[in-house]
Formats: sequence, C-alpha cells, structure tokens
Amino acid sequence: ENRIFSGIQPTGNLTLGNYLGAIRNWAALQDDYECIYCLVDLHAITLFQNPEELRRNTREVAAGLLACGIDPKKHILFNQSQNQDHAELAWIFNCVARMGWLNRMTQFKEKAGKNRENASTGLFVYPNLMAADILAYKATHVPVGEDQKQHLELARDIAAKFNNDWEKPDFFPLTEPLILGAATRVMSLRDGTKKMSKSDPSDMSRINMTDGPDAIAQKIRKAKTDPEALPSEAEGLEGRPEAQNLVNIYAALRGVDVETALGDVGGKQFSEFKPILSDVAVSVLGPIGEEMQRLLQDVAEIDRILCEGSERSRAITNPILREVREVVGFVQ
Ligand code: TYM
Repeated sequence: ENRIFSGIQPTGNLTLGNYLGAIRNWAALQDDYECIYCLVDLHAITLFQNPEELRRNTREVAAGLLACGIDPKKHILFNQSQNQDHAELAWIFNCVARMGWLNRMTQFKEKAGKNRENASTGLFVYPNLMAADILAYKATHVPVGEDQKQHLELARDIAAKFNNDWEKPDFFPLTEPLILGAATRVMSLRDGTKKMSKSDPSDMSRINMTDGPDAIAQKIRKAKTDPEALPSEAEGLEGRPEAQNLVNIYAALRGVDVETALGDVGGKQFSEFKPILSDVAVSVLGPIGEEMQRLLQDVAEIDRILCEGSERSRAITNPILREVREVVGFVQ
C-alpha cells in the first residue's frame, strides 16, 4: 500500500522553488495516492522564530497549500506540533542515528555556517525528526525538491538500522523520494549556482507566491543572464546556469520537458524570452496568490482545518507508535 508524506517549513515566503519543486507535485499526487502534508513548525524552530511570525507564517503556508489545490477533506493537512508522535519517534531515532551520519549532512553545514559551536542541537538532529515525520506513518513515497535527497537517504538508513537492531526486518519501509518535474532545483534569479530560497536576504533573488504581476515581471526582467541567445537543444544549456534555470522554470510552469520548451523558445534572445516567461509565471501564480489572500481573511477556518487534520494524523500514528514502544521494550 503506497502512502505519500511530505513537509514544508512555515518560515517566510513560499517561493517558486517550493511550488515547482514540491507543492505542485503534492497536488497532482492526490489523484492516485493517500497523501499527508505537514507544516513542520518543530523543524522551523531549529532557527529562532518570533512567535507571532511563526503563527502567521503557519497560517500563510497553510493558505498557500490550500490555494494550490491541496484537499484537506480527502487527504490530511496539519501542523507538526499538534501531533506529539513526531517528537517522540524523533527521540527514539536520536538513539538510532549515528553522529557520523549527521556529520555528513550538507544542509547542517550550510545552515550552521562558520560558527558551528553556536548552532542549536536541534539543527544538528533535524534529519532525525524528518525521518520520524515520514516513518510515523510508514510512508512509502516522499515528494521533495532535490535539496532534500540527502535527508531522505538518511531516513532510509535509520529505517534499516531500526529494523535490523530490533530484528523486525519489515517494520519500517525504506522510503523512496519522488523528485518530479523539470525544475527539481530552482536557482536564485541573481546567481544560477545558488538555490532559490526564502531565506536569501535579496527579495530580487526569488519569486514569492504572493508576488503580483508587476513584481514578477520586474524580477524576471532583472534576472541575471548571459549574452547568448537560447539554444535549440538541451545540451546547449550546459555551462550556462542562469539560462538553464530560466528554461527549467519555463518548462516546469508549462508542464512540459526542457526539449519541448526549447522547441518553442530556442533561438530567442533573453529580451524576447523574458516577457514570455513573465506571462506564464503570472498566469500560473496570479490566481494562486489571489486565492491565498482570500483564504487568509478567515484565519479561524484555517486553524480548524489544521486541528482536524492533526486529529486524523494522530489516528494513523498512534497505533504505529504503540507498536514502536512494544518493539523497543517500553512498558505500556
Ligand atoms: P523546505 O521547507 O525547505 O522546502 C519545502 C519543499 O520545497 C522544496 N524546495 C525546492 N525545490 C526546488 N527548488 C528550490 N529552490 C526549492 N526550495 C525548496 C524542498 O525540496 C521541499 O520539498 N526539511 C524539509 C521539510 C521536511 C520534510 C519532512 C520534507 C520536514 N520533514 C519530511 C519531506 C518529508 C524542508 O526544510 O523543506
């Protein structure tokens, strides 16, 4: 039986990277699978969050997911802190994962920066909590952008070690990542070698899902490029990170592959391609941004959806956690 789980941090703005790398795929998977989508507020506080902002961002990201077509009736949408099983299983995984495994995590190194002594210990064990998120549901598939691949490999290592240590060969599934679409790693508009991120200090580096048509057009107009025209074959994008990124975005927004996209726009100068790209971006993001604003008028309804979602999430994880306690040897 296939079960989909994925999570997103309720920090700052949702970006085009979140949308193309994850959320759009989450929405599409709902037709064929049982899906559980989580706003990971416990992950968010690995870096300090202002409480009012955290609450506001949680509701805003919930509105974003709903506006993108996540269906909270057929599937589950909730925030992580309302299901304590995530934190309990994460503790058990803290005792399964090895220091050496976590020392290899590139995201920790990036987020901790130079001053590693001053990083929260939560930031270090963050991937264990992520494994707990997934395995508390025994989820089989996890749709994410490419930047989460290393964390998912760790989740597999944790599942395998747990199964092996307690001699329960099939207890946790070895979860598969689903990295889908033409833009699995959307890059900064200012630097084609850096990931587009909600935490980049420059707002010009990213397209936010709440940006209006003027902001989108301006950011794309100012996006870094090179002097050449677009190639007509995908190989021609090699060594041209900014061109590659804009073409990937264009292809993903249109839901086609890069070859097909270049069939339309290959040979064009950026001055001609950029307005075309802006129009596609506005036509996809415009209605989503408007729907988000509409949903945010009724915060109580969003809170109700999350509360109900968490109740249904607990109905899945409570029996799995009971099994886990039994396996580990806790009296209950
Ligand atoms: P987060 O909140 O950073 O991002 C949410 C999702 O968006 C994808 N994404 C991108 N995809 C393509 N290009 C980009 N520039 C880009 N930026 C973000 C991410 O890959 C992700 O799929 N640790 C996770 C949240 C998490 C989680 C989980 C995910 C917690 N528990 C369990 C899956 C399963 C994170 O920080 O994602």
